[in-house]
Amino acid sequence: MTVDTDLSRRTSFVPGSAAAPFAVERAEGAYLITPDGRRILDAAGGAIVVNIGHGRREVGEVAARALERLTYVVPTFVSEAKARLVERLTERWLPEGLTRASFTSGGSESVEAALRLARLHHVCAGRSERWKVIGRESSYHGVTLAALAVGGHTPRRKGYEPLLLDFPKVRSHYCLECSLGRTSEDCRGEAADALEEVILCEGPDTVAAFIAEPVVGGAAGAVVPPPGYWPRVVDICRKYGVLLIADEVMCGFGRTGAKFAVNHWGVTPDIMVGGKGLAGGYAPIGGVYATDEVMAPIAERGEDLMFYTFSAHPASCAVADKVLEIMEREDLVARAKSMGELLSKGLARLRQHPNVAEVRGLGLMQAVEIVRDRDTLERFPADAHITRRVVAAGLSKGVFLYPAGSGVAQDIIMLGPPFIITEDDIDLLVSVLEESIDAAVSRFSSSAPDK
Ligand SMILES: Cc1ncc(COP(=O)(O)O)c(C=O)c1O
Repeated sequence: MTVDTDLSRRTSFVPGSAAAPFAVERAEGAYLITPDGRRILDAAGGAIVVNIGHGRREVGEVAARALERLTYVVPTFVSEAKARLVERLTERWLPEGLTRASFTSGGSESVEAALRLARLHHVCAGRSERWKVIGRESSYHGVTLAALAVGGHTPRRKGYEPLLLDFPKVRSHYCLECSLGRTSEDCRGEAADALEEVILCEGPDTVAAFIAEPVVGGAAGAVVPPPGYWPRVVDICRKYGVLLIADEVMCGFGRTGAKFAVNHWGVTPDIMVGGKGLAGGYAPIGGVYATDEVMAPIAERGEDLMFYTFSAHPASCAVADKVLEIMEREDLVARAKSMGELLSKGLARLRQHPNVAEVRGLGLMQAVEIVRDRDTLERFPADAHITRRVVAAGLSKGVFLYPAGSGVAQDIIMLGPPFIITEDDIDLLVSVLEESIDAAVSRFSSSAPDK
């Protein structure tokens, strides 16, 4: 079967407005294969989703068996697949203390459920005045309206503002341009103190929760917090009775070289959400995880969250369970760590590039921030569309790079390849990335070689 690119254009609501459609016929391992047989290294794992690699037959077989056995049940029923997935997650994957698991169809739905859960917790505990969820200025939590409202991704919010609840926002950490003037030597994670200021300004009795990505994804590009940041956030949330929601949709399930990014700082959030990596792209499934303490007042009142029709779909659960089993069997979280170190080493030469402000990230969630001048951090004008040019150049050279960035830091390329990526693939990725940056900036910058 061949894919008609003209047909794929009709899947956009505004034909012709999107970036040129790119047809992919099939995929195997870390590679996408186009209808004309070109092999493209999937250095982004789709949208930083694919972890065990593409095209594993055993996952397809599990999906087929699951669909034959049980098509669908109302999500309040327990399918065998769901029971197995809950057991695997709570016994082997989730940070200690997260004992409850519930499933959705993806990241945005999971964030919405987490927001409702935080609110329901306070209402059931007799604190119905607590409704505000504090988000961060540079963040992304999904595209459904409450997720968009709690996030700080300006371009994606643009035009929808009247539909978005006015949730308070707090400054995020951004070590490249630390607003507190700290260096890595004298930083103690004081960026977290801004959270306390916002809680006090809003009135602690009105704040239900704080939501943040432990390693920031597409909004700012693999931004890793300074070591003291998350422990300090935990202390502040505890002090004011504010629930901590960790959004691990992108950074969870091994992506950063630990099962979850919060593990790097020994933190257990009250509520955690995940998506993407749970089934590694083989099924649309996300999850919301919570502690007994979050659930206690809700259970006492006999309440529960309303489900989505496709929550805990039996085939999605069976597929997710299989993907996690493969990750365990092949020790792929450890591989994300070791290949992440290799990627980081490979990218080191880009640190000297005149248009690269920073190379950052953890495990196989890394990013390169592109600027006009690395000394002054002057950015390219938005209409130069540097990121789009780098991605287009990468595709023409056989590598799919992920566009990221919002606000000031708008020219960012993220790397999130499948964990089975090889050393040769990493060499290819790094060379193509370097050539693609040169090609994209050459028209706008006197400092880059003309290619
Ligand atoms: C951190 C984070 N949260 C939430 C979402 C939304 O997930 P989805 O696109 O599956 O709805 C994303 C998607 O990129 C994300 O990166």
